[in-house]
Amino acid sequence: MAELEVRKIRKEFGSLVAVRDASLRFDSARVTCLLGPSGCGKTTLMRMIAGLETPTSGDVLFDGKPVTSLSPSARDIGMVFQYPVVYQGLTARQNIMLPLRSLRTLSAADRSRRVDDALAILDLRDVADTDVGRLTHALKQKVAVARAIARQPHIILMDEPVTNIDATTKSQLKYALRRLTRELHQTIVYVTHDQTEAMTLADEILLMNEGEIVQRGSPREVYNHPAHRFGGWFLGNPGMNFVSHRVEKRAGELTLGRPLFARDTHLHGLDGETDVIVGVRPESLAIAGTASENSVPARIKHAAIVTGGQQLLALEVDGRTVKAKVPAGSSYRIGEDVHVTCDPDDVTLFDTDGGKLEVIFRPKADDA
Ligand SMILES: Nc1ncnc2c1ncn2[C@@H]1O[C@H](COP(=O)(O)OP(=O)(O)OP(=O)(O)O)[C@@H](O)[C@H]1O
Ligand SMILES: [Mg+2]
Repeated sequence: MAELEVRKIRKEFGSLVAVRDASLRFDSARVTCLLGPSGCGKTTLMRMIAGLETPTSGDVLFDGKPVTSLSPSARDIGMVFQYPVVYQGLTARQNIMLPLRSLRTLSAADRSRRVDDALAILDLRDVADTDVGRLTHALKQKVAVARAIARQPHIILMDEPVTNIDATTKSQLKYALRRLTRELHQTIVYVTHDQTEAMTLADEILLMNEGEIVQRGSPREVYNHPAHRFGGWFLGNPGMNFVSHRVEKRAGELTLGRPLFARDTHLHGLDGETDVIVGVRPESLAIAGTASENSVPARIKHAAIVTGGQQLLALEVDGRTVKAKVPAGSSYRIGEDVHVTCDPDDVTLFDTDGGKLEVIFRPKADDA
């Protein structure tokens, strides 16, 4: 099992820095998703790992040894791209067999078994002997994935392989990738701009923005604890609410009260009074018709149905608009007065540059 590492890797295209001195170690036998918006440098980073792009500076290492000067074919990697690369005029089986021919140590029986396994994992047995030119786009892509995995390279790189593909194929691919990492211990780097895909596929997410890795962590970590305002904004549907706020001392304690909390909530971890950005996810706001101990008054400005059986509301709170996500079927009228509550543990504070502030909230009553 190969360990993949990049050290201070950088790629410039003229004055544009596509990847900015990224240093990363990819865990073996895991699916790592490179997630970020279009143009953030995902493909460029992946192409440098593959050897398809020469870094401006920095190194790629497999098992601790630099491979930066090796050609793609000398790197023992499998690759799948957004658009299927298959050889027309050959059957699915022949396509998958193709790269196995160069593996001299494998017996003919072993090669056949690998092809059969790959066909089975991707549910391609019915079309094994069909010319790939006659297959749909989704099936062609499955053949391309099967070809990459059958060779059992140490590292598999996939660049948006299911962006243009139906949900069934996506879930089959997910199952195949899980099996590969569990049984064959292959290291998979999977590039996507689709957060749902990354959330369901990844063991670990590398969140990327403007050529830099902004955060790495489990899907849950990066979603629940964004290290930067960018992660709060980019993840979620829609992303976090951000409210500019000044943390001031009240009765000798740094305090966050309104707009989110009726009660003064003490903050621990800040040096002094400061401007912050309060981040809270729409689904962390709860709405009720009656006031409760720590709720703040709000008015419904707009209501829309979003997917997943949830309703998205725009609320006016303290003169600002915030989004809240509530179970669909909760019938709120435009203009209705309601009350909003929020658990301080679900609030993230960012500094004005967008970096996460490490603070602990403690309600005033608990201080006594
Ligand atoms: N060969 C090239 N020449 C010049 N600029 C390039 C080249 N390849 C990529 N870029 C630029 O580098 C930046 C990063 O591109 P890259 O393709 O790595 O982004 P990406 O994250 O994969 O985006 P997408 O989600 O759209 O695929 C972009 O601004 C892109 O225009
Ligand atoms: Mg790309």
